[in-house]
Amino acid sequence: MSTPHLRPRIHLAPASTWLNDPNGLVLLDGVYHAFFQTNPEGDGWGNMSWGHATSTDLLTWQEQPVALRHTEHEVIYSGSVVVDHANTSGFGDSGAAGPPLVAVYTSAYTDVSPRARTQAQSLAHSTDGGASWTLHPGNPVLDRASSDFRDPKVFWHRQSESWVMVAVEAVHRQVVLYRSADMLSWEHLSTFGPAGSTEGVWECPDLVELPVAGTGRSAWVLVVSLGAGGPAGGSGTQYFVGDFDGVTFTADAAGARWLDHGPDHYAAVSFDNTPGRRLMMGWASNWAYAAEVPTSPWRGCLSLAREVDLVLDEAALPVLRQRPVLPAAAVERVVVQRLAVAAGATGRLRVSTADGEDRVEVTVDRAAGLLLLDRSACGDVTFSPALPTVVTAPLPAADGPVDLLVVVDGCVVEVYAVDGRVCLTALVLPSARLTVVEVLG
Ligand code: FRU
Repeated sequence: MSTPHLRPRIHLAPASTWLNDPNGLVLLDGVYHAFFQTNPEGDGWGNMSWGHATSTDLLTWQEQPVALRHTEHEVIYSGSVVVDHANTSGFGDSGAAGPPLVAVYTSAYTDVSPRARTQAQSLAHSTDGGASWTLHPGNPVLDRASSDFRDPKVFWHRQSESWVMVAVEAVHRQVVLYRSADMLSWEHLSTFGPAGSTEGVWECPDLVELPVAGTGRSAWVLVVSLGAGGPAGGSGTQYFVGDFDGVTFTADAAGARWLDHGPDHYAAVSFDNTPGRRLMMGWASNWAYAAEVPTSPWRGCLSLAREVDLVLDEAALPVLRQRPVLPAAAVERVVVQRLAVAAGATGRLRVSTADGEDRVEVTVDRAAGLLLLDRSACGDVTFSPALPTVVTAPLPAADGPVDLLVVVDGCVVEVYAVDGRVCLTALVLPSARLTVVEVLG
């Protein structure tokens, strides 16, 4: 049964296929590109390939033809795209075309491949702004003879003037770091982990340098997604704040934190080539039930793009701050509601269907120090026993008012509190669009 009322309007969802992780988020000449894990032949996981969508405002997405397609010998797992400004790879055109886009992705070899059941890192490039892609004949370019070596995220490390890759040895719960001058040959730098949460396999790492607001300093953030053991059950995403000296990432003593406390935010990674700001997007689902989410004809969508930096918490420790990109036009298309809740008070927002039958409630309980999202009275919450119906996140014990921002768009609810220091993303499956907002105080 088709579910048009669940279709997001400002979140990226494919027209009629499966989507999981964002891959190769990149800004080129004013156009945001989002590649994503897709099954070009269906709405279930499989035949993994890179879908492609473009946007100029991060709200309205135009689906493009599949960029990297699976073959009999390999499926295309997650990875990243960089703008190779200096044409270090040599993939660029000598003509008038701009710098090449280079995709670094995981080749997951199928049973009929001579490399059967191993995963290694491969390259493709585009010189027409991402419209067409050429696979590198020397693939794979990085092979550890491992069955679970995947999800390369590559960035230009200014200080050492080299490309740095973070990828995972998923089963070992390790992030492996590599360096390259041209992306064609890679030198091992160091290994991070196991650390923090190790309950699930480690996937989709990212390493970014972010400013610490108000300090003039910066710090490095290592993001690691976990296949299980997330804060709301099932998969989730943790991050470590620390330092990266060009070789080794060293986490601060504070340990791991959750990037999002909801059940439905996974594989979040940053955009390449957005000078002066850092944007991330994640997959709004959970491996515990992603395959059963009753949307049709598509299954899976990404989170809003979030501008991220660090801010000092009450203990003067840097924590991630995520603020969604929400131009004024968003308000005309989806529910965007703000609220401020004084110390000691409780604030509650209810967003319902027009007939009042289905609703979600978001509560800021300052006395208990909790943010709560209740989706127990919101349509089909029984499609999976793994789906938690009430989700909570701890709030810092601050003195002043706590601000709340709630975005409801089809099947996705994103909640941001304390200026984006506490985030909570959850899927909802109401029987009609959630449009009626009540502030219950
Ligand atoms: C994370 C993940 C990645 C892998 C991809 C396959 O959600 O499992 O580790 O590359 O999905 O679709």
